[in-house]
Amino acid sequence: MILAPSILAADLGRLADEVAAVERGGAGAIHVDVMDGHFAPNLTLGPKVVEAVRRRTRLPLDVHLMVECGDRYVDAFVDAGATWVSLHVEAVPHLQRAVAHVSERGAQAGVVLNPSTPLSALEEILPEVDYVLLMSVNPGFSGQVFLPSSLDKIRRLRETIRARGLRARIEVDGGVNAENIRTIVGAGAEIIVAGVAAFSGGDPEASARGLIEASG
Ligand code: DX5
Ligand code: ZN
Repeated sequence: MILAPSILAADLGRLADEVAAVERGGAGAIHVDVMDGHFAPNLTLGPKVVEAVRRRTRLPLDVHLMVECGDRYVDAFVDAGATWVSLHVEAVPHLQRAVAHVSERGAQAGVVLNPSTPLSALEEILPEVDYVLLMSVNPGFSGQVFLPSSLDKIRRLRETIRARGLRARIEVDGGVNAENIRTIVGAGAEIIVAGVAAFSGGDPEASARGLIEASG
């Protein structure tokens, strides 16, 4: 299991320290939530922040693009140091081309499904992606409650990937905490995003370590 703390919930005035703390706590990636105020009802982080974090850590930078036509920004984020880039199926009309472009740029390519988007939306693209990010909250904010229906979705996706013999890994994002992380990993999630659960307790190093211990 890879823990990917979301810096959306970090103290941005102390971002370098916050990133270093979760890295000491065992984080395996840093999750960056990019929102445009259109696709997601919030304005958050851009390539400048990715560039700044890139200078402070060697961990993979997991950029989650919650923006309309996210394909237009792939180059800017890869140039800034993104190592994984995920695009919402609901927000990118020419998804196959966008995923291929992420791969050509040498980044890991992911696609994201909102809670109400069925797994059938992955049918054609699944063989081409390195990971699928299943949203377990509706995009917009840290600190929302994990939607329980996500568990069955994770299990069904794991089974589909296994049955089709594909490489895609499953990432889960939204409402993960020390109480539910074990069930989520047990359902088949391999990359786990945590915002509030990683950064809001005052000791991100201990929180990250606690989440990893609680995961199994
Ligand atoms: C939701 C974001 C998430 C969020 C996670 O729109 O994509 O990454 O920041 O935060 P928590 O773990 O607090 O739900
Ligand atoms: Zn996210």
